[in-house]
This record gives sequence, C-alpha cells and structure tokens, in this order.
Amino acid sequence: MPRNFYIKTMGCQMNDYDSDYLAQFLVNKGFSSVNTPENADLILINTCAVRAKPEQKAYSFLGRMSSIKKGNPNLTIGMVGCLAQLKGPELLKRFPQLDLVIGPRELGRFQEIFEKIDRNSGKFVATSLDLAPPQPAPCKGYFHKRITGHVAIMEGCNNFCSYCIVPYVRGREISRSPDEIIAEAENLLSEGMREITLLGQNVNSYLWEGEKTKWSFPALLHELSRLDGLLRLRFTTSHPKDLSDDLIHSFLYIKNLCHHIHLPFQAGSNRILKLMKRGYTREKYLELIDKLRKNIPDIAITSDVMVGFPGESNEDFELTLDLIRDVEFDSLFSFKYSDRKGTFAERMDGKIDKTVKSSRLNILQDLQKEITLKKNKALEGRHLEVLVEGPSKREGQLTGRTASHKVVNFNSNNSRIGNLHTVTIKHSFLNSLWGEVLE
Ligand code: SAH
Ligand code: SF4
Ligand code: F3S
Repeated sequence: MPRNFYIKTMGCQMNDYDSDYLAQFLVNKGFSSVNTPENADLILINTCAVRAKPEQKAYSFLGRMSSIKKGNPNLTIGMVGCLAQLKGPELLKRFPQLDLVIGPRELGRFQEIFEKIDRNSGKFVATSLDLAPPQPAPCKGYFHKRITGHVAIMEGCNNFCSYCIVPYVRGREISRSPDEIIAEAENLLSEGMREITLLGQNVNSYLWEGEKTKWSFPALLHELSRLDGLLRLRFTTSHPKDLSDDLIHSFLYIKNLCHHIHLPFQAGSNRILKLMKRGYTREKYLELIDKLRKNIPDIAITSDVMVGFPGESNEDFELTLDLIRDVEFDSLFSFKYSDRKGTFAERMDGKIDKTVKSSRLNILQDLQKEITLKKNKALEGRHLEVLVEGPSKREGQLTGRTASHKVVNFNSNNSRIGNLHTVTIKHSFLNSLWGEVLE
C-alpha cells in the first residue's frame, strides 16, 4: 500500500486549490508528502490544458515520472486536472506507465479511486463532468504557516469563448452552498490564515439558489467578510459581462475586501472581441473601468490579454495596445493565442504566423513593463498597508503584499508575520517594492 505521495501542480490557482484538496485527503488517510518524486509511492500530476505549452510540459513531466517507475514497479502514477479530462483514456494507451486519469470534477470520488489504488486493482479513468465540487475534509496543521489561501466558490464555465478549452474540461458552472464555503473559510482561519481569495472560473457569476434562500456574489462576500480573524478578502477571476453595480459597491462597504480586481479584457478590437465571443465591446469594457475608478479611486486593476487570435490584423493589435495605454493596468498577464482542439477558434481561418505572434507579444509586454514601472515608481514615499506573509528569499527580510496585490519586501524579524503593517515605500522595481516598516 502506498504511503508517500508527491503532487506536481502545473495549472492555475484552481489547480493549486485542487492539489491541496488531494493532499489533505491523502494526509487524512495517513499518507506523507515527500519533496522528491523518487521517494514517492504515489505521484499525481495536476495538469493544465489552456495552451499548448502547459500541455507539452505535462507530457514531458509524465515521461520523467515514467522512467522512475521503471526502477520502482510499485509506484502509482496519476494524471489529474484539465489535461487528464481532455484526453481521458487515450492517455493510458499513450503512456503505459500511467495508472490513473482523473478529471477535475471527479475529485470528490477520490475515496473510491483511492480504494482502487489501495487494492492495486489496476488502471482507472474518471472523467465525468456532472459532479459537484467536493468539500475538503479539514486536515489539522496542513496549512501551517500559510497566511493566504483559497476557497473555490464556484466551478466551471458557461461562456464558451471561442478560443477556450476551460468549459470543456471544467464543465458547466456550479456554485457551492454558502454553508460549505463559510465552513471551509472558518477552518482556514482557525489554521492561522488571514487572507482568503475566492476562486471561480467566473467568480462573479456566483449564484446559490437553495430551497428557501438565494445568495448573490455580493451577499456571499458580505457574509464572509465578517468572519473572525479575516484580515483580507479577495476574489478572482471576474468576467466583465457579469460585473454588477452591486459588486462595485461591495468594495465600498466591505472594509476588508481588497481594492483590486482582475478583469481580463483579451483584446482591444471589437471585431476580435466578437470573434472571441466575449460578450462585451471595447467601449463597454472601458465604461466598466471608468465606473470602477470613479467609485473606488485607489482600485488596482489587472487583466489578461491575448495576441495573435485568428484574423488579428495590425490595426486590431494596435487597438489592443491603445486600450492598454488608456487603462494603464497595474499588471497584465499576456499570452500568444494557442490553438485548442475542439474549440470554435481552432476551425477559424486567418491563423497568425508564430513569429508575428511573438513580435506582437514582445511589443505588448514592453509597453506594459513601462506602465507597471511607472505605476510602481509613483508609490515611492507612500505609506501602504502590507499583510506580512513570511520570510522573503533573502535572509532577515520579510515579504508581504499590498491590498493592490503588489509584493513588498522589507527588513524585519519574524514577529510581524500574519499581521497588517504600514510600510513606507522606498524603492520600486518592476516586480516588487522595497520598504521600511513605519513603527
Ligand atoms: N475565466 C477567465 C480566464 C481563464 S483562462 C476569463 O474569462 O477571463 C486564463 C487566461 O488564459 C485567459 O484569460 C486567456 O487570456 C488565456 N487563454 C485562454 N485560452 C487561451 C488560448 N487558447 N490561447 C492563449 N491564451 C488563452
Ligand atoms: Fe474560458 Fe471564456 Fe470561460 Fe474564461 S469565460 S474560462 S476565457 S470560456
Ligand atoms: Fe489550466 Fe484548467 Fe486552470 S485548463 S488554467 S488548469 S482551469
């Protein structure tokens, strides 16, 4: 019977959260987590399918794990997550050393799957998309020393943006009940966490309709914000088409809700936004940014954008750059469009050459670097509230984040970990700020 496990996580925050679910489950069953796959009896690779790159990485990691198994036939290897869902049983054919293929909506059946591993009863594939997200069983001490953590409040996506594989691998949207969410958050707080980020593929389309009660996303935020010990509350990722006035007002009356929103825009050209099936125009997006900033002047806005969508002309790309100049995001995740089999975009004409995609991405990233640095420099001399998360990579230094999610490093002893401190920003860099604690 396997006793040591190793989990490799290759995807987004939701994948991280799922890996924590699996790890807690295994620890509760008496397993121990090990830091090197060579010492494990069970290896789980939690995969991502959103672009070709993470897909390739997953295969190459699986290849390395398979060679470990050649020297240790009792090793069990499982592929879980979005790529496991997408490829299903064909993975077992392609990788003979692989034992388990488990999609992200099947994690709640891990008990059953676990019994099969236990009895060494051979290969197993689980890729139904119909199951509701499971409730993690509390695991005492698992989150030791983690100041910030996640709670998934909904899963899946109904939007089917034309380029995106997520709806195919995470299934339809389903919201968890407020009772479950609150219980999970309370458990994290009792373990010492001080900041919780609510997760969902479209977190702001959260809606719980119970027999007697109906809970909107702002109502859930309000309820959670009152939990004892919660210093900060965040959420990600929001979809522009579901950004309600109520949610904007929540930033004003919920005191521990961080003034930060991650609001992907994807493209600045209406023609491309339409082909992407995003459900909003450039003007509508800019209107939302305006409304957010009018109501919450210090709100930090971050976003996702893509270059090289099929048919994207130089003019379309210029409109994307123009939107970036106009909004001045605090930071931006930018990607080259990647064909995903089975999506609408995969079948579209006008695919963009990869050198053009790379050059557009470089131009865009250079522009954003200038903006990020300019915005960070403007913080020099300011006093910012920082939630101290732990030691930084350099000895004698601690690291934390501002409400706007910027990393701040400073000299201090460990006694400040887990608390909010005011820090004077002395130097700003592209990816972090350096400061001194205001005593
Ligand atoms: N639900 C979120 C996005 C989840 S995927 C939203 O709607 O904003 C995270 C990011 O990956 C997306 O915002 C998009 O920028 C990028 N992405 C998704 N599919 C992609 C593809 N096929 N090629 C390149 N980037 C992609
Ligand atoms: Fe993908 Fe669009 Fe759903 Fe985001 S909203 S997960 S980009 S389909
Ligand atoms: Fe990747 Fe799945 Fe997240 S495809 S981005 S791990 S939801």
